[in-house]
Amino acid sequence: MNVLVIHGPNLDLLGTREPEVYGAQTLADVDRRIAEEGAQLGVRVDCVQHNSEGAIVDALHAARGRYDGIILNAAAYTHYGYALRDAIAAVGIPTIEVHLTNTLAREPFRATSVIGPVCRGTIAGFGVDSYLLALRAFV
Ligand code: DQA
Repeated sequence: MNVLVIHGPNLDLLGTREPEVYGAQTLADVDRRIAEEGAQLGVRVDCVQHNSEGAIVDALHAARGRYDGIILNAAAYTHYGYALRDAIAAVGIPTIEVHLTNTLAREPFRATSVIGPVCRGTIAGFGVDSYLLALRAFV
């Protein structure tokens, strides 16, 4: 099984970005944990990060025929990124929405996910474990 992990905007700043909210782990730390979990589960995993919505749309398009599943932390685009929603629906690869934080327990605008309805499921609130649980869900 081949899984693509896509991290959205500002997640490249993990480690220094609001550590009281997002924790002290850097994106490299997160990707290392994901790679280790993938190896244990026998899943081939690639991780990418993009700050622009268009780049994420391009990554979703390019995933066709290459990946069996996508784990997407769309970050703030989650809440208003209609182009992402349409791309997930168009590409048709099972996609799991993940978040480090429990978006429902934060500011009201984070309670809306425009991508959730076209995703296979959502895992939020468990830090890096949200990604690891999503990998397990695919297996
Ligand atoms: C996030 C939650 C989003 O609301 C926020 O914009 C992010 C990160 C998370 O992983 O908790 O950038 O997706």
